[in-house]
Amino acid sequence: MTLWGGAFSQPTDDAVRRLNDSLRFDWRLYDVDITGSIAWAWALADADVLAADECETLVGGLEQVRAEFHAGTFVPAPGDEDIHTAVERRLTEIAGGVAGKLHTGRSRNDQVATDVLLWLLDAQAKLIAHLLELAQALIAQAQQHAGALMPGYTHLQPAQPVTAAHWWLSHFWALARDIERLEQLADAWREKCPLGSGALAGTPYPIDRQALARRLGFRGCTANSLDAVADRDHVAECLFALALAGVHLSRLAEDLIIYANPAFGFVRLDERYSTGSSLMPQKRNPDPLELARGKAGRLIGHLSGLLTTLKGLPSGYNKDLQEDKEPLFDAFDTLLALLPPLAGLVSSLDMDTDRMRAALNEAMLATDLADYLVGRGIPFRQAHGLAGEVVRLAELKGVELSALALEDYHTISDVFETSVLDVFSFEAAVARRGVVSGGAGDFDEQMQRVQAWVSRRQ
Ligand code: ARG
Repeated sequence: MTLWGGAFSQPTDDAVRRLNDSLRFDWRLYDVDITGSIAWAWALADADVLAADECETLVGGLEQVRAEFHAGTFVPAPGDEDIHTAVERRLTEIAGGVAGKLHTGRSRNDQVATDVLLWLLDAQAKLIAHLLELAQALIAQAQQHAGALMPGYTHLQPAQPVTAAHWWLSHFWALARDIERLEQLADAWREKCPLGSGALAGTPYPIDRQALARRLGFRGCTANSLDAVADRDHVAECLFALALAGVHLSRLAEDLIIYANPAFGFVRLDERYSTGSSLMPQKRNPDPLELARGKAGRLIGHLSGLLTTLKGLPSGYNKDLQEDKEPLFDAFDTLLALLPPLAGLVSSLDMDTDRMRAALNEAMLATDLADYLVGRGIPFRQAHGLAGEVVRLAELKGVELSALALEDYHTISDVFETSVLDVFSFEAAVARRGVVSGGAGDFDEQMQRVQAWVSRRQ
């Protein structure tokens, strides 16, 4: 059964039909498609387009189709072009001629636009639950390593000491923004139910679109039917949010890949979350992390692919828009496959706090040395230069900064006193940065903000 053959005298070419058909990927919309159709049936009844008993027959039939999908007993027929056609074909088999009234005043254009939005609202909530699981794993590692010191890096060069907790939470906050972004997007999507836009120009029946929108869980309906049927901003916004989450995960993965390298040895991956080499028996490869890093490319590709599809489309619905679904579904599938193993990997890994500490050296306190001079009245620019000279001298002599004699310091500046030795405590350097969000200082305060953020979501 096709929905549109009346004006045609020839059947569609088989290869065209295969190209055109979307059921193989849009079947996933069955649940939201049926929910949308039930709401539409009620809206038609409210507008006196359908009699109450007709509406009930349609709703009962649609629920039966839904049950068949749920049970896995739905059998597609050769002419099922897309999920909308498939549902209506099956409804006709179940409910008979009255099924032909369901599509009154509606088009697949406003129908599919509504379906995708409903699907997105559900999918983003599921994704957030998985992102939260990883966020919790990061928080737990931070709590466990609140006092452990490690080098903090800029340019991947040792920069200043930080606590491991501070580093873990740096990744938590990026993920927290991803979650907030999805929450805010979903909130905005609830304003724009497109159902009732018709094919492009609106529906001629007296549908209460606001009530229809509310029935579907939206707060409001779209204002311009021509815009509404072609608007895929929400798909692009979502693909951006997912791509950026992928970018954040790739950065976490890269840090962990580096820290798991034996040259660093800061973390050891649990055997369940690393793989061996088929050739080299000693290898422990961080495959899940490499995949996390790699999949960011795929997610970014989906975003740029969709934007390219949308670019330059003429007004109204165009079949190009059918290309929104595969990248969207794949982006969700990609993250849903990635997040659980990543959360497990983070929770189960061991940090070697001795190796982390051993990677600290006093050159990482050169900024603190400059600050010591600032405390003694030297302008920072000049203090920076003098501290640099101390680092150079220590390098020349092959010793740590604290092993230089006071006379050595005096060759650089007579402002130095024995109190300079107080500078060379990594703990003190970290504690000095007690400013809100600083490199360690008040971990408790940062943790309170983390907990408040989490508890708003429980
Ligand atoms: N499968 C189509 C899509 O995903 C549904 C809308 C079809 N509309 C049309 N006028 N052919 O975009």
